[in-house]
Amino acid sequence: MAVDVLLGLQWGDEGKGKIVDVLTPKYDIIARFQGGPNAGHTLEFEGIKHVLHTIPSGIFHKGVKNIVGNGVVIDPVVLKQEIDKLIDRGVHVNEQLLISRKAHLILPTHKLLDKASEISKGKAKIGSTLKGIGPTYMDKTGRNGLRVGDVFGANFKEMYDALVEKHNNILSNFDFEFDLAELEGPFFEGIETLKSLTPIDSEHYLNEAIKSGKKILAEGAQGTLLDVDFGTYPFVTSSNTITAGTCTGLGIAPNKIENVIGIFKAYCTRVGSGPFPTEEDNEVGEMIRKIGHEYGATTGRERRCGWIDIPALKYAIMINGVTELAMMKGDVLDSFDTIKVCTHYIYEGDKIDYFPYTINDKEVIPVYEELKGWKTDLTKLTDSETLPQNLVDYIAYLEGLLEVPISIVSVGPDRKQTINRKALAV
Ligand code: GDP
Ligand code: IMO
Ligand code: MG
Repeated sequence: MAVDVLLGLQWGDEGKGKIVDVLTPKYDIIARFQGGPNAGHTLEFEGIKHVLHTIPSGIFHKGVKNIVGNGVVIDPVVLKQEIDKLIDRGVHVNEQLLISRKAHLILPTHKLLDKASEISKGKAKIGSTLKGIGPTYMDKTGRNGLRVGDVFGANFKEMYDALVEKHNNILSNFDFEFDLAELEGPFFEGIETLKSLTPIDSEHYLNEAIKSGKKILAEGAQGTLLDVDFGTYPFVTSSNTITAGTCTGLGIAPNKIENVIGIFKAYCTRVGSGPFPTEEDNEVGEMIRKIGHEYGATTGRERRCGWIDIPALKYAIMINGVTELAMMKGDVLDSFDTIKVCTHYIYEGDKIDYFPYTINDKEVIPVYEELKGWKTDLTKLTDSETLPQNLVDYIAYLEGLLEVPISIVSVGPDRKQTINRKALAV
Protein backbone atom coordinates (compact mmCIF):
# COMPACT_ATOMS: atom_id res chain seq x y z
CA MET A 1 0.00 0.00 0.00
CA ALA A 2 1.21 3.42 -0.91
CA VAL A 3 -0.54 6.03 1.16
CA ASP A 4 0.48 7.23 4.61
CA VAL A 5 -1.37 9.92 6.51
CA LEU A 6 0.04 12.48 8.89
CA LEU A 7 -2.38 14.44 11.02
CA GLY A 8 -2.84 16.36 14.26
CA LEU A 9 -4.30 14.67 17.33
CA GLN A 10 -5.03 17.78 19.40
CA TRP A 11 -6.49 21.20 18.52
CA GLY A 12 -4.08 21.92 15.67
CA ASP A 13 -0.59 23.44 15.52
CA GLU A 14 1.04 20.23 16.69
CA GLY A 15 3.94 20.67 14.25
CA LYS A 16 2.54 18.93 11.18
CA GLY A 17 4.39 21.19 8.75
CA LYS A 18 7.75 20.41 10.32
CA ILE A 19 7.31 16.64 10.27
CA VAL A 20 5.86 16.52 6.75
CA ASP A 21 8.96 18.40 5.59
CA VAL A 22 11.22 15.98 7.50
CA LEU A 23 9.49 12.91 6.03
CA THR A 24 9.10 14.20 2.46
CA PRO A 25 12.31 12.55 1.14
CA LYS A 26 10.59 9.19 1.71
CA TYR A 27 7.69 10.12 -0.60
CA ASP A 28 6.97 11.01 -4.23
CA ILE A 29 3.84 13.04 -3.54
CA ILE A 30 2.58 15.13 -0.62
CA ALA A 31 -1.15 15.89 -0.70
CA ARG A 32 -3.29 18.19 1.44
CA PHE A 33 -6.81 16.80 1.83
CA GLN A 34 -8.85 19.36 3.76
CA GLY A 35 -8.96 22.76 5.38
CA GLY A 36 -7.65 25.90 3.78
CA PRO A 37 -5.80 29.04 4.77
CA ASN A 38 -7.02 28.68 8.35
CA ALA A 39 -3.97 26.39 8.57
CA GLY A 40 -0.50 27.73 9.24
CA HIS A 41 2.18 25.06 8.84
CA THR A 42 5.66 26.12 9.86
CA LEU A 43 8.92 24.61 8.71
CA GLU A 44 12.44 25.71 9.47
CA PHE A 45 15.74 24.82 7.87
CA GLU A 46 19.03 26.56 7.14
CA GLY A 47 18.04 29.40 9.45
CA ILE A 48 14.91 30.30 7.50
CA LYS A 49 11.34 29.92 8.71
CA HIS A 50 8.48 29.31 6.25
CA VAL A 51 4.76 29.33 6.97
CA LEU A 52 2.49 27.57 4.49
CA HIS A 53 -1.29 27.91 4.48
CA THR A 54 -2.61 26.12 1.39
CA ILE A 55 0.43 24.55 -0.21
CA PRO A 56 1.59 21.19 1.16
CA SER A 57 4.70 21.13 3.32
CA GLY A 58 6.70 19.00 0.87
CA ILE A 59 7.18 21.92 -1.52
CA PHE A 60 10.79 22.58 -0.54
CA HIS A 61 11.93 19.19 -1.80
CA LYS A 62 12.77 19.40 -5.48
CA GLY A 63 11.13 16.73 -7.61
CA VAL A 64 8.37 15.96 -5.13
CA LYS A 65 4.85 16.73 -6.37
CA ASN A 66 2.63 18.67 -3.99
CA ILE A 67 -1.10 18.33 -4.50
CA VAL A 68 -3.91 20.48 -3.18
CA GLY A 69 -6.76 17.98 -3.10
CA ASN A 70 -10.48 18.34 -3.78
CA GLY A 71 -11.22 18.51 -0.05
CA VAL A 72 -9.26 21.75 0.38
CA VAL A 73 -10.82 25.22 0.12
CA ILE A 74 -8.60 27.71 -1.68
CA ASP A 75 -8.40 31.46 -1.27
CA PRO A 76 -6.73 32.62 -4.51
CA VAL A 77 -5.45 35.74 -2.71
CA VAL A 78 -3.58 33.68 -0.08
CA LEU A 79 -2.45 31.13 -2.66
CA LYS A 80 -0.90 33.87 -4.81
CA GLN A 81 0.93 35.31 -1.80
CA GLU A 82 2.28 31.87 -0.90
CA ILE A 83 3.38 31.18 -4.45
CA ASP A 84 5.09 34.57 -4.82
CA LYS A 85 7.07 33.96 -1.62
CA LEU A 86 8.10 30.49 -2.72
CA ILE A 87 9.21 31.72 -6.15
CA ASP A 88 11.31 34.38 -4.39
CA ARG A 89 12.98 31.56 -2.49
CA GLY A 90 13.77 29.72 -5.68
CA VAL A 91 11.12 27.01 -5.46
CA HIS A 92 9.93 25.67 -8.84
CA VAL A 93 6.29 26.04 -7.93
CA ASN A 94 4.87 25.51 -11.40
CA GLU A 95 6.64 22.15 -11.76
CA GLN A 96 5.82 20.90 -8.31
CA LEU A 97 2.36 22.19 -7.42
CA LEU A 98 -0.79 20.59 -8.79
CA ILE A 99 -4.31 21.70 -7.88
CA SER A 100 -7.48 19.64 -7.95
CA ARG A 101 -10.15 20.94 -10.31
CA LYS A 102 -12.68 19.96 -7.65
CA ALA A 103 -11.25 22.09 -4.83
CA HIS A 104 -13.67 24.85 -3.81
CA LEU A 105 -12.89 28.56 -3.95
CA ILE A 106 -13.09 31.00 -1.07
CA LEU A 107 -14.65 34.22 -2.37
CA PRO A 108 -14.16 37.60 -0.72
CA THR A 109 -17.80 37.44 0.39
CA HIS A 110 -17.14 34.12 2.16
CA LYS A 111 -14.71 35.96 4.41
CA LEU A 112 -17.31 38.66 5.06
CA LEU A 113 -19.90 36.00 5.87
CA ASP A 114 -17.44 34.42 8.31
CA LYS A 115 -17.16 37.75 10.07
CA ALA A 116 -20.94 38.23 10.05
CA SER A 117 -21.43 34.76 11.53
CA GLU A 118 -18.99 35.44 14.34
CA ILE A 119 -20.60 38.83 15.08
CA SER A 120 -24.03 37.22 15.25
CA LYS A 121 -22.80 34.60 17.73
CA GLY A 122 -21.59 37.26 20.16
CA LYS A 123 -19.98 35.69 23.22
CA ALA A 124 -20.56 32.20 21.78
CA LYS A 125 -18.28 32.93 18.80
CA ILE A 126 -16.11 30.08 17.54
CA GLY A 127 -12.95 32.15 17.43
CA SER A 128 -12.67 31.45 13.72
CA THR A 129 -9.58 32.52 11.82
CA LEU A 130 -12.03 34.51 9.63
CA LYS A 131 -10.52 33.07 6.48
CA GLY A 132 -13.94 32.17 5.06
CA ILE A 133 -13.64 28.45 5.78
CA GLY A 134 -17.10 27.81 7.29
CA PRO A 135 -19.12 29.72 4.66
CA THR A 136 -17.15 28.09 1.80
CA TYR A 137 -17.79 24.55 3.08
CA MET A 138 -21.43 25.55 3.65
CA ASP A 139 -21.69 26.56 0.00
CA LYS A 140 -20.00 23.30 -0.99
CA THR A 141 -22.49 21.13 0.90
CA GLY A 142 -25.31 23.55 -0.02
CA ARG A 143 -24.35 22.93 -3.65
CA ASN A 144 -23.70 26.56 -4.46
CA GLY A 145 -19.90 26.61 -4.47
CA LEU A 146 -17.43 27.54 -7.17
CA ARG A 147 -14.58 25.17 -7.95
CA VAL A 148 -11.11 25.52 -9.42
CA GLY A 149 -12.34 23.90 -12.64
CA ASP A 150 -14.91 26.68 -13.04
CA VAL A 151 -12.29 29.40 -13.43
CA PHE A 152 -11.36 27.98 -16.84
CA GLY A 153 -14.95 28.20 -18.11
CA ALA A 154 -16.22 31.09 -20.25
CA ASN A 155 -19.00 31.90 -17.79
CA PHE A 156 -16.91 32.06 -14.60
CA LYS A 157 -17.70 35.74 -14.04
CA GLU A 158 -21.45 35.10 -14.30
CA MET A 159 -21.18 32.20 -11.85
CA TYR A 160 -19.17 34.42 -9.52
CA ASP A 161 -21.68 37.29 -9.75
CA ALA A 162 -24.64 34.98 -9.09
CA LEU A 163 -23.05 33.60 -5.91
CA VAL A 164 -21.99 37.04 -4.73
CA GLU A 165 -25.57 38.26 -5.18
CA LYS A 166 -26.74 35.48 -2.84
CA HIS A 167 -24.07 36.44 -0.34
CA ASN A 168 -24.92 40.13 -0.55
CA ASN A 169 -28.53 39.34 0.30
CA ILE A 170 -27.39 37.64 3.49
CA LEU A 171 -24.84 40.33 4.29
CA SER A 172 -27.48 43.06 3.97
CA ASN A 173 -28.88 41.84 7.30
CA PHE A 174 -25.65 42.77 9.04
CA ASP A 175 -24.51 46.12 10.09
CA PHE A 176 -20.81 46.38 9.22
CA GLU A 177 -19.00 48.28 6.53
CA PHE A 178 -17.14 46.64 3.69
CA ASP A 179 -15.87 47.58 0.28
CA LEU A 180 -16.28 44.55 -1.92
CA ALA A 181 -14.66 46.18 -4.96
CA GLU A 182 -11.49 46.65 -2.93
CA LEU A 183 -11.44 42.93 -2.07
CA GLU A 184 -12.23 41.82 -5.59
CA GLY A 185 -9.06 43.29 -7.16
CA PRO A 186 -6.69 40.89 -5.34
CA PHE A 187 -9.21 38.05 -5.76
CA PHE A 188 -9.21 38.26 -9.55
CA GLU A 189 -5.42 38.66 -9.56
CA GLY A 190 -5.29 35.44 -7.56
CA ILE A 191 -7.59 33.78 -10.07
CA GLU A 192 -5.08 34.63 -12.82
CA THR A 193 -2.31 32.99 -10.76
CA LEU A 194 -4.52 29.96 -10.23
CA LYS A 195 -5.06 29.71 -13.99
CA SER A 196 -1.31 29.64 -14.54
CA LEU A 197 -0.99 26.48 -12.40
CA THR A 198 -1.61 22.91 -13.50
CA PRO A 199 -5.16 21.82 -12.72
CA ILE A 200 -5.60 18.08 -12.38
CA ASP A 201 -8.24 15.49 -11.63
CA SER A 202 -6.37 14.64 -8.47
CA GLU A 203 -8.34 11.46 -7.75
CA HIS A 204 -7.20 10.00 -11.08
CA TYR A 205 -3.67 11.34 -10.68
CA LEU A 206 -3.27 9.87 -7.20
CA ASN A 207 -4.79 6.49 -8.01
CA GLU A 208 -2.55 6.20 -11.08
CA ALA A 209 0.40 7.09 -8.87
CA ILE A 210 -0.59 4.37 -6.40
CA LYS A 211 -0.82 1.85 -9.25
CA SER A 212 2.64 2.72 -10.48
CA GLY A 213 4.14 2.19 -7.02
CA LYS A 214 4.58 5.81 -5.98
CA LYS A 215 4.53 6.74 -2.29
CA ILE A 216 2.08 9.36 -1.10
CA LEU A 217 1.90 11.22 2.19
CA ALA A 218 -1.45 12.87 2.96
CA GLU A 219 -1.00 15.99 5.10
CA GLY A 220 -3.77 16.92 7.48
CA ALA A 221 -4.62 20.40 8.63
CA GLN A 222 -6.07 21.45 12.00
CA GLY A 223 -6.42 18.58 14.47
CA THR A 224 -8.79 15.79 15.45
CA LEU A 225 -10.41 17.80 18.25
CA LEU A 226 -11.36 20.41 15.62
CA ASP A 227 -13.00 17.80 13.35
CA VAL A 228 -16.54 18.81 12.38
CA ASP A 229 -17.95 15.42 13.46
CA PHE A 230 -15.70 14.30 16.29
CA GLY A 231 -14.23 17.52 17.67
CA THR A 232 -15.56 19.73 20.45
CA TYR A 233 -18.57 20.79 18.38
CA PRO A 234 -19.55 23.55 17.68
CA PHE A 235 -16.06 24.87 18.52
CA VAL A 236 -14.53 23.11 15.54
CA THR A 237 -13.60 23.80 11.95
CA SER A 238 -15.87 22.86 9.04
CA SER A 239 -14.05 19.85 7.59
CA ASN A 240 -13.14 16.28 8.49
CA THR A 241 -9.61 16.58 9.78
CA ILE A 242 -9.32 12.84 10.49
CA THR A 243 -7.93 9.91 8.49
CA ALA A 244 -11.33 9.43 6.83
CA GLY A 245 -10.93 12.95 5.42
CA THR A 246 -8.09 11.60 3.29
CA CYS A 247 -10.52 9.36 1.44
CA THR A 248 -13.07 12.08 0.72
CA GLY A 249 -10.54 14.87 0.31
CA LEU A 250 -8.31 13.04 -2.17
CA GLY A 251 -10.43 10.26 -3.65
CA ILE A 252 -8.26 7.57 -2.09
CA ALA A 253 -9.96 4.39 -0.92
CA PRO A 254 -9.56 3.35 2.74
CA ASN A 255 -7.77 0.13 1.84
CA LYS A 256 -4.95 2.13 0.22
CA ILE A 257 -3.96 3.68 3.55
CA GLU A 258 -1.14 2.08 5.48
CA ASN A 259 0.62 4.13 8.18
CA VAL A 260 -1.22 6.82 10.09
CA ILE A 261 1.23 9.12 11.87
CA GLY A 262 -0.46 11.03 14.67
CA ILE A 263 1.26 14.18 15.90
CA PHE A 264 0.91 15.66 19.36
CA LYS A 265 2.72 18.14 21.54
CA ALA A 266 4.27 16.97 24.81
CA TYR A 267 1.70 19.36 26.30
CA CYS A 268 -1.43 20.84 24.72
CA THR A 269 -2.59 24.08 23.11
CA ARG A 270 -5.74 25.50 21.63
CA VAL A 271 -6.42 28.75 19.78
CA GLY A 272 -9.93 30.19 19.58
CA SER A 273 -12.95 29.42 21.78
CA GLY A 274 -14.14 26.13 23.18
CA PRO A 275 -13.50 23.70 26.01
CA PHE A 276 -9.96 22.76 27.02
CA PRO A 277 -10.00 20.64 30.20
CA THR A 278 -6.26 20.75 30.89
CA GLU A 279 -5.82 24.46 30.18
CA GLU A 280 -3.49 26.28 32.58
CA ASP A 281 -4.87 29.79 32.43
CA ASN A 282 -2.16 30.98 34.81
CA GLU A 283 1.60 31.36 35.12
CA VAL A 284 2.22 27.74 34.05
CA GLY A 285 0.35 28.33 30.79
CA GLU A 286 2.18 31.63 30.39
CA MET A 287 5.51 29.88 30.80
CA ILE A 288 4.65 27.24 28.19
CA ARG A 289 3.43 29.97 25.81
CA LYS A 290 6.58 32.00 26.27
CA ILE A 291 9.05 29.15 25.91
CA GLY A 292 7.09 27.41 23.13
CA HIS A 293 6.35 30.65 21.21
CA GLU A 294 2.72 29.64 21.24
CA TYR A 295 1.24 32.29 18.98
CA GLY A 296 -0.88 31.44 15.94
CA ALA A 297 1.06 30.98 12.68
CA THR A 298 -1.94 32.33 10.74
CA THR A 299 -3.53 34.94 13.02
CA GLY A 300 -0.78 35.69 15.55
CA ARG A 301 -3.29 35.10 18.38
CA GLU A 302 -2.08 33.80 21.73
CA ARG A 303 -2.52 30.05 21.96
CA ARG A 304 -4.07 28.79 25.17
CA CYS A 305 -1.68 26.33 26.85
CA GLY A 306 -2.00 23.41 29.26
CA TRP A 307 -0.96 19.85 30.04
CA ILE A 308 -1.21 16.77 27.87
CA ASP A 309 -4.67 15.19 27.86
CA ILE A 310 -4.63 11.39 27.56
CA PRO A 311 -8.42 10.76 27.30
CA ALA A 312 -8.54 13.21 24.37
CA LEU A 313 -5.43 11.69 22.76
CA LYS A 314 -6.76 8.15 23.12
CA TYR A 315 -9.99 9.26 21.45
CA ALA A 316 -8.05 10.83 18.58
CA ILE A 317 -5.90 7.70 18.16
CA MET A 318 -9.03 5.56 18.01
CA ILE A 319 -10.85 7.74 15.45
CA ASN A 320 -7.80 7.95 13.19
CA GLY A 321 -6.41 4.43 13.47
CA VAL A 322 -3.03 5.88 14.41
CA THR A 323 -0.16 3.43 13.89
CA GLU A 324 2.70 5.58 15.14
CA LEU A 325 3.15 8.81 17.01
CA ALA A 326 5.34 11.89 16.74
CA MET A 327 5.84 13.78 19.99
CA MET A 328 6.62 17.44 19.40
CA LYS A 329 8.11 20.26 21.43
CA GLY A 330 9.46 18.16 24.31
CA ASP A 331 12.19 20.82 24.58
CA VAL A 332 9.60 23.38 25.70
CA LEU A 333 9.30 21.45 28.98
CA ASP A 334 13.09 21.28 29.53
CA SER A 335 13.04 23.59 32.56
CA PHE A 336 10.00 22.10 34.36
CA ASP A 337 10.62 20.24 37.65
CA THR A 338 7.49 18.18 37.22
CA ILE A 339 5.36 17.43 34.21
CA LYS A 340 1.68 16.68 34.55
CA VAL A 341 -0.22 14.12 32.52
CA CYS A 342 -4.02 14.10 32.62
CA THR A 343 -5.03 10.44 32.71
CA HIS A 344 -8.72 10.79 33.62
CA TYR A 345 -11.47 13.32 34.02
CA ILE A 346 -13.92 13.81 36.85
CA TYR A 347 -17.07 14.32 34.80
CA GLU A 348 -20.58 14.58 36.22
CA GLY A 349 -19.29 13.06 39.45
CA ASP A 350 -17.61 10.04 37.84
CA LYS A 351 -13.95 9.33 37.17
CA ILE A 352 -13.76 8.53 33.47
CA ASP A 353 -10.91 7.78 31.06
CA TYR A 354 -12.72 8.53 27.81
CA PHE A 355 -13.73 11.65 25.89
CA PRO A 356 -17.46 12.17 26.51
CA TYR A 357 -20.23 13.37 24.15
CA THR A 358 -19.78 16.98 25.12
CA ILE A 359 -17.48 18.84 27.43
CA ASN A 360 -18.96 22.24 26.58
CA ASP A 361 -20.28 24.12 29.61
CA LYS A 362 -19.54 21.10 31.81
CA GLU A 363 -17.22 20.92 34.72
CA VAL A 364 -14.44 18.61 33.65
CA ILE A 365 -11.79 18.20 36.33
CA PRO A 366 -8.58 16.68 35.05
CA VAL A 367 -6.98 13.97 37.18
CA TYR A 368 -3.20 14.22 36.90
CA GLU A 369 -0.19 11.99 37.36
CA GLU A 370 3.02 13.90 37.97
CA LEU A 371 6.28 12.83 36.39
CA LYS A 372 9.77 14.12 37.03
CA GLY A 373 11.06 16.67 34.53
CA TRP A 374 14.29 15.93 32.63
CA LYS A 375 15.88 19.33 33.28
CA THR A 376 18.14 18.95 30.25
CA ASP A 377 18.52 21.02 27.12
CA LEU A 378 17.07 18.70 24.48
CA THR A 379 17.56 21.03 21.55
CA LYS A 380 21.07 19.81 20.71
CA LEU A 381 20.25 16.11 20.86
CA THR A 382 20.08 14.14 17.63
CA ASP A 383 20.22 10.53 18.76
CA SER A 384 17.62 8.54 20.71
CA GLU A 385 20.46 6.94 22.71
CA THR A 386 21.30 10.29 24.27
CA LEU A 387 17.84 11.19 25.59
CA PRO A 388 17.81 11.87 29.35
CA GLN A 389 16.34 9.04 31.45
CA ASN A 390 13.40 11.10 32.74
CA LEU A 391 12.35 11.85 29.15
CA VAL A 392 12.74 8.19 28.22
CA ASP A 393 10.49 7.41 31.20
CA TYR A 394 7.96 10.07 30.10
CA ILE A 395 7.87 8.59 26.59
CA ALA A 396 7.50 5.04 27.92
CA TYR A 397 4.71 6.17 30.25
CA LEU A 398 2.81 7.81 27.37
CA GLU A 399 3.33 4.79 25.12
CA GLY A 400 1.93 2.59 27.85
CA LEU A 401 -1.22 4.71 28.11
CA LEU A 402 -1.67 5.32 24.39
CA GLU A 403 -0.72 1.82 23.21
CA VAL A 404 1.00 3.20 20.10
CA PRO A 405 4.77 3.64 19.63
CA ILE A 406 6.27 7.12 19.63
CA SER A 407 8.60 6.85 16.66
CA ILE A 408 9.56 10.50 16.29
CA VAL A 409 10.61 12.91 19.01
CA SER A 410 10.99 16.54 17.99
CA VAL A 411 13.26 18.73 20.11
CA GLY A 412 13.20 22.04 18.26
CA PRO A 413 11.65 23.75 15.24
CA ASP A 414 14.47 22.95 12.81
CA ARG A 415 14.40 19.99 10.45
CA LYS A 416 17.57 18.69 12.10
CA GLN A 417 16.08 18.76 15.60
CA THR A 418 14.26 15.51 15.01
CA ILE A 419 15.02 12.20 16.68
CA ASN A 420 14.03 8.97 15.02
CA ARG A 421 13.25 6.27 17.56
CA LYS A 422 12.31 3.64 15.03
CA ALA A 423 12.83 3.49 11.29
CA LEU A 424 9.46 4.25 9.73
CA ALA A 425 8.00 1.33 7.86
CA VAL A 426 7.68 3.11 4.52
P1 GDP B 1 1.23 22.94 12.39
O1 GDP B 1 0.07 23.84 12.10
O2 GDP B 1 0.81 21.64 12.98
O3 GDP B 1 2.15 22.76 11.20
O4 GDP B 1 2.08 23.68 13.52
P2 GDP B 1 2.45 25.25 13.58
O5 GDP B 1 3.47 25.54 12.57
O6 GDP B 1 1.21 26.07 13.56
O7 GDP B 1 3.00 25.37 15.05
C1 GDP B 1 4.07 24.62 15.51
C2 GDP B 1 5.16 25.61 15.97
O8 GDP B 1 6.10 24.93 16.76
C3 GDP B 1 5.94 26.23 14.84
O9 GDP B 1 6.35 27.52 15.21
C4 GDP B 1 7.15 25.30 14.70
O10 GDP B 1 8.28 25.95 14.14
C5 GDP B 1 7.38 24.95 16.13
N1 GDP B 1 7.95 23.63 16.40
C6 GDP B 1 7.71 22.45 15.73
N2 GDP B 1 8.32 21.43 16.37
C7 GDP B 1 8.95 21.96 17.43
C8 GDP B 1 9.73 21.41 18.49
O11 GDP B 1 9.94 20.21 18.59
N3 GDP B 1 10.20 22.28 19.44
C9 GDP B 1 9.96 23.62 19.38
N4 GDP B 1 10.46 24.39 20.34
N5 GDP B 1 9.22 24.17 18.39
C10 GDP B 1 8.72 23.36 17.45
P1 IMO C 1 -3.28 24.13 11.62
O1 IMO C 1 -3.43 23.35 10.33
C1 IMO C 1 -5.17 25.69 15.21
C2 IMO C 1 -9.35 26.86 14.89
C3 IMO C 1 -9.69 28.34 15.01
C4 IMO C 1 -11.08 28.25 15.61
C5 IMO C 1 -11.66 27.02 14.90
C6 IMO C 1 -12.50 27.37 13.69
O2 IMO C 1 -2.27 25.22 11.53
O3 IMO C 1 -3.09 23.22 12.76
P2 IMO C 1 -12.03 28.26 11.24
O4 IMO C 1 -11.14 29.36 10.74
O5 IMO C 1 -11.68 26.92 10.71
O6 IMO C 1 -13.48 28.60 11.09
O7 IMO C 1 -11.77 28.22 12.83
O8 IMO C 1 -10.57 26.23 14.50
N1 IMO C 1 -8.36 26.55 13.84
C7 IMO C 1 -7.09 26.19 14.11
N2 IMO C 1 -6.44 26.11 15.28
N3 IMO C 1 -4.56 25.32 14.06
C8 IMO C 1 -5.21 25.38 12.88
O9 IMO C 1 -4.68 24.90 11.74
C9 IMO C 1 -6.54 25.87 12.87
N4 IMO C 1 -7.46 26.07 11.89
C10 IMO C 1 -8.57 26.48 12.51
O10 IMO C 1 -8.79 28.99 15.87
O11 IMO C 1 -11.00 27.93 16.98
MG1 MG D 1 -0.61 25.76 12.57
